[in-house]
Amino acid sequence: MARSKCLLAYSGGLDTSVAIKWIQENYGLDVIALVVDVGQERQDLDFVREKALSIGAVESTCKDVREEYVNDYLSRALKANALYENKYPLVSALSRPIIVKHLVDEAHECGAGYIAHGCTGKGNDQVRFEVGIAALDPDIQVLAPVREWDLKTREQEMDWAAERGIPVPTTKANPYSIDDNLWGRAIECGVLEDPWVEPPDDIYTLTSDARGETCGEPGYAVISFEQGLPVALDGEPTGFHEIINRMNELAGKHGFGRIDMIENRLVGLKSREVYEVPGALTLITAHKALEDLCLERELLHYKLGVEQKWSELVYNGMWFSPLKEALDGFIETTQQLVTGDVRLRFFKGSCVTVGRRSPYSLYDYDLATYDASDSFDHRAAKGFIDLHGLPIKVWAHQRRKVGKEGEV
Ligand code: ARG
Repeated sequence: MARSKCLLAYSGGLDTSVAIKWIQENYGLDVIALVVDVGQERQDLDFVREKALSIGAVESTCKDVREEYVNDYLSRALKANALYENKYPLVSALSRPIIVKHLVDEAHECGAGYIAHGCTGKGNDQVRFEVGIAALDPDIQVLAPVREWDLKTREQEMDWAAERGIPVPTTKANPYSIDDNLWGRAIECGVLEDPWVEPPDDIYTLTSDARGETCGEPGYAVISFEQGLPVALDGEPTGFHEIINRMNELAGKHGFGRIDMIENRLVGLKSREVYEVPGALTLITAHKALEDLCLERELLHYKLGVEQKWSELVYNGMWFSPLKEALDGFIETTQQLVTGDVRLRFFKGSCVTVGRRSPYSLYDYDLATYDASDSFDHRAAKGFIDLHGLPIKVWAHQRRKVGKEGEV
C-alpha cells in the first residue's frame, strides 16, 4: 500500500531540513516539500527546492506567489493601514496565510492528509499555520516536529542531522532569527533578547543608518492612489509591487523604516522585535494622509477602530475568519474615493507628508481659510457650543448645588 503523504512548508533552513527526515522516521510518511516564494531575499529558491530532494523528500516544488501576495494580501493590509499595536506592519503575519493557502491547495492536489510546519511552540507563526489550515480544511492533520522532537539545542539538532547525512551549516550560525518577504524583515534573538541593548548595525539590510552619508540631502516622492491602492510614482504609472520595491530603496536610503519594539505575542509573552519596513511604512504613511483628506470624519474615526481590530485578528492567525472577512468588506467600501496624490519628503530617518490632493478632497478652502473668502458661519458656532456643552453645564450646576464644586 502506498505510504500516506505529508506536505511540508520548507524554507531550506536547518529546522525544516531536519523535519523531512524526522517525519519519515517518526511518522512513516512520504514528505513533499513546498517552498513558497513571497519575496524573501538572499535565497536561490531552486537550490532550496533541490536540497529537499537530496535530503529525501519524494517531491519538491517552489511556487512564486509574489503577485498574488501583493494583490490579495498586501493590498488589504494597506487599505487597513495595518499596524499591530500601532507599530508593526504584520510582515510575518501576512505571509503565513498565503503560504497556508498554497499548502492546502497542494495537499488536495497530491492527496496528502498531513501538513507540517517548522515553527516552535513559543511563537505566533504556529498559530497562524494551524488555525489557517483548519479554516481551509478542518480534516487535515497538522504535524509540528520542532515542537515535538527532543533536540533541545542547535548542537543536538546538528548532530542528529549529521548522523543522517543532512547538510548542516558550516559557517557559524547567524545569531538572529530572520523572517522576510516583500513587506519587510523581522529580526529576533541574539543580543536583541536584552531589551536594553541597542540593535547592532549589522542586522539591517534594507535601511541605512540615518546618521550616515547617504542621508545628506532630502529626497521626495509623489505616490498616486486609486481607490486606496498605489498606481503611480512621480507621475509614472507603476504597479503596486514595483512601488513597494522603489519605496524600500528610497526610504531605506534615507534611513526610514526601522522599528524597535516590545510586542505582545498571542501565546502570552512579551518579545523584543526589530523590523525593517521602509516601503511598508512609507506606503501606510501616504495612504493615511490621503484618507485624512478624503474620508468623512465619522467614517475616518470609526475606521481607526476597525484597523486595530483587523490588525489584531491577522496577527492572531485569524486571516481566514468570518470577522476578518466582514471587516474587509467594510474597509473596501471606505476606499471608493481614496484617490489622489501624496507628496512625501525623506530626510535623516524621517518620512513626512508634505502635500496631498484629490478630486474627492473634503478639504474646503473657503471653510478653512481666515482670509476674505471665509464662508464659515462664525455666529453659528455660538449655538453649537451652547448645545454641545449643555450636559456639562447642567452637571456643573448640579455639582454646585450639592456642594461638590471642583470635584469630578
Ligand atoms: N513577531 C513577529 C510576528 O509574530 C515576527 C515573527 C518572525 N518569525 C520568525 N520565524 N522569525 O509576526
